[in-house]
Amino acid sequence: PLRLDIKRRLTARSDRVKSVDLHPTEPWMLASLYNGSVCVWNHETQVTQRSRYINDMLIKLWDWDKKWSCSQVFEGHTHYVMQIVINPKDNNQFASASLDRTIKVWQLGSSSPNFTLEGHEKGVNCIDYYSGGDKPYLISGADDRQVKIWDYQNKTCVQTLEGHAQNVSCVSFHPELPIIITGSEDGTVRIWHSSTYRLESTLNYGMERVWCVCGLRGSNNVALGYDEGSIIIKVGREEPAMSMDTNGKIIWAKHSEIQQANLNAMGDAEIKDGERLPLAVKDMGSCEIYPQTIQHNPNGRFVVVCGDGEYIIYTAMALRNKSFGSAQEFAWAHDSSEYAIRESNSIVKIFKNFKEKKSFKPDFGAEGIYGGFLLGVRSVNGLAFYDWENTDMIRRIEIQPKHIFWSDSGELVCIATEESFFILRYMSEKVAASQENNEGVTEDGIEDAFEVQGEIQEIVKTGLWVGDCFIYTSSVNRLNYYVGGEIVTIAHLDRTMYLLGYIPKDDRLYLGDKELNIVSYSLLVSVLEYQTAVMRRDFGMADKVLPTIPKEQRTRVAHFLEKQGFKQQALAVSTDPEHRFELALQLGELKIAYQLAVEAESEQKWKQLAELAISKCQFGLAQECLHHAQDYGGLLLLATASGNATMVGKLAEGAEKDGKNNVAFMTYFLQGK
Ligand SMILES: *[C@@H]1O[C@H](CO)[C@@H](O)[C@H](O)[C@H]1NC(C)=O
Ligand SMILES: *[C@@H]1O[C@H](CO)[C@@H](O)[C@H](O)[C@H]1NC(C)=O
Ligand SMILES: *[C@@H]1O[C@H](CO)[C@@H](O)[C@H](O)[C@H]1NC(C)=O
Ligand SMILES: *[C@@H]1O[C@H](CO)[C@@H](O)[C@H](O)[C@H]1NC(C)=O
Ligand SMILES: *[C@@H]1O[C@H](CO)[C@@H](O)[C@H](O)[C@H]1NC(C)=O
Ligand SMILES: *[C@@H]1O[C@H](CO)[C@@H](O)[C@H](O)[C@H]1NC(C)=O
Repeated sequence: PLRLDIKRRLTARSDRVKSVDLHPTEPWMLASLYNGSVCVWNHETQVTQRSRYINDMLIKLWDWDKKWSCSQVFEGHTHYVMQIVINPKDNNQFASASLDRTIKVWQLGSSSPNFTLEGHEKGVNCIDYYSGGDKPYLISGADDRQVKIWDYQNKTCVQTLEGHAQNVSCVSFHPELPIIITGSEDGTVRIWHSSTYRLESTLNYGMERVWCVCGLRGSNNVALGYDEGSIIIKVGREEPAMSMDTNGKIIWAKHSEIQQANLNAMGDAEIKDGERLPLAVKDMGSCEIYPQTIQHNPNGRFVVVCGDGEYIIYTAMALRNKSFGSAQEFAWAHDSSEYAIRESNSIVKIFKNFKEKKSFKPDFGAEGIYGGFLLGVRSVNGLAFYDWENTDMIRRIEIQPKHIFWSDSGELVCIATEESFFILRYMSEKVAASQENNEGVTEDGIEDAFEVQGEIQEIVKTGLWVGDCFIYTSSVNRLNYYVGGEIVTIAHLDRTMYLLGYIPKDDRLYLGDKELNIVSYSLLVSVLEYQTAVMRRDFGMADKVLPTIPKEQRTRVAHFLEKQGFKQQALAVSTDPEHRFELALQLGELKIAYQLAVEAESEQKWKQLAELAISKCQFGLAQECLHHAQDYGGLLLLATASGNATMVGKLAEGAEKDGKNNVAFMTYFLQGK
């Protein structure tokens, strides 16, 4: 505990205080009240320094370049002005809400209003402009408990939203999502669809009256202010609706517009890891639903767009609709012509070639579905995998998955949960055998269907498989890959990025962010293949892959081998003389170490090698090394300890010539000279 001392310095009683501020140098507090009073309190003397009434039905323009002088006054409202907002598409225009029941739209430079919008039956508290490009709309909230949407070009009320049980105190068009957020003195925040005007949800956090809402561009966070505090909520999916096919065509949704970017159209510009790619963006048309997710099918010919409880399958090339329907969720099968939809919490339907093939009720309900090699269905009881072909239940696993990622071969699957991820191997032969002879089958399916390869305590955000390597972005913004129990970090990302795919011909991974920026990182598949082979102890395969690994990557691979305990292989693979010398010493490979020492001509290496030679009783070699290292002390020790008079004699001469008088004296003395 901090044990902070807290004392009350000033209590100034009044009606609702809307804002307070402290003076940076004077002992003053400024408080502005709901009724229009502004007063400055001195908290040392406890008296009002100054008080002023400023809710004077006027709007004033202050110029901070001219010492905050008032450069214009806008007159026209006949009651208090509650809020003004500047038009985001035209900074010379603003709108005001007033308790005189009107909304007025003004131009800077003209002191009288450009026009007035009338329709509310009581005072208007709040207004907001729609920031999207497609509609010239204003929204207002009033004490008549209504919210109105206005077209400010033809000056008509387009829609009235009813539902609040008390004065509406704040309104906001969300800058990203197709929603209108309104707050009221009835204590609720209501979320409405901004195109259909349907009430999507009513939030009541029991914090008394709502006063303000604020959505942030590029984010799902919305801040709410109440009588009793403030709250931040996250609305909708964070992950952007975008998908890439295997040829590098990316499709994404910007609000409800579908756009395409093509990696192949980038030309020969040099690409650096983590740098934003200069992509040309092509409009493909708008979607009839607000896309929450977009996903290509495995062969890339179709994309499915999901949102608002609906799905539409389009041709990826021209965005022509091929099929649509209502569904809670959609999942592509491994086979490009098949998919499943979750119709409700109990019914799952499988389609082939856009025709319904089967509808079934999973035993414990369907809270979520997952595509890929097997159809995954999540229920409160866990996860069940089904065969796409005949909807036979293959295996039930007690786990609550968030994502499931199948490798292309269908041999490996990653099941990611809220806390960690599991890598499982799918034993298709054992499954086939069990299905044949009906052995090893329990009520939870085929016991031997999966073999756990590992569990890693990391939260996977997005992932994909390249061969046997699982590549993923983690909750701490790392781009990692997992191969055979080993985790390698490819990059530390500076923000949340979502994996789009891997393009083998570029040897690059592509990722996108919420603002639809695309970046890439190089990934050498030959290295991944080699590492996979090493982890499987399949050195035959590793040797086959090795020639495809670029020379400059060999040392990286060698370090990986060394880490796995394969030093001999590491020595064979490494191209870095330093690394090779280290490995040769560790392995006692005198010949290789000698060769490297000769090439390096480094005293340090000769010394290290001499030590190794001595430990191996290779005195001839040790002597040579010590000579190269000009280590006279070492030579003296070696010569005397081995009792080699010839050597002592030679050393005496050499030392004298080199001016090493101590060693020269000692050696002559020992010889009686
Ligand atoms: C506003 O309220 C304060 C304190 O509650 C009061 O002193 C002041 O006279 C009021 N002003 C108006 C204009 O009603
Ligand atoms: C409103 O502003 C527009 C654009 O400045 C102008 O063309 C129009 O005449 C103005 N209308 C009125 C009533 O002032
Ligand atoms: C004004 O424009 C809206 C579309 O923004 C349209 O629905 C409405 O009918 C128009 N009203 C008039 C009077 O033209
Ligand atoms: C709503 O506004 C009116 C003024 O129009 C006010 O008298 C009333 O107290 C307000 N309602 C609440 C719950 O504060
Ligand atoms: C699909 O396209 C047809 C015309 O080709 C159109 O009538 C229909 O509204 C479209 N449906 C959806 C959901 O896009
Ligand atoms: C003694 O040292 C000389 C060179 O200094 C070497 O040629 C000789 O082989 C050594 N003798 C023995 C027995 O190691």
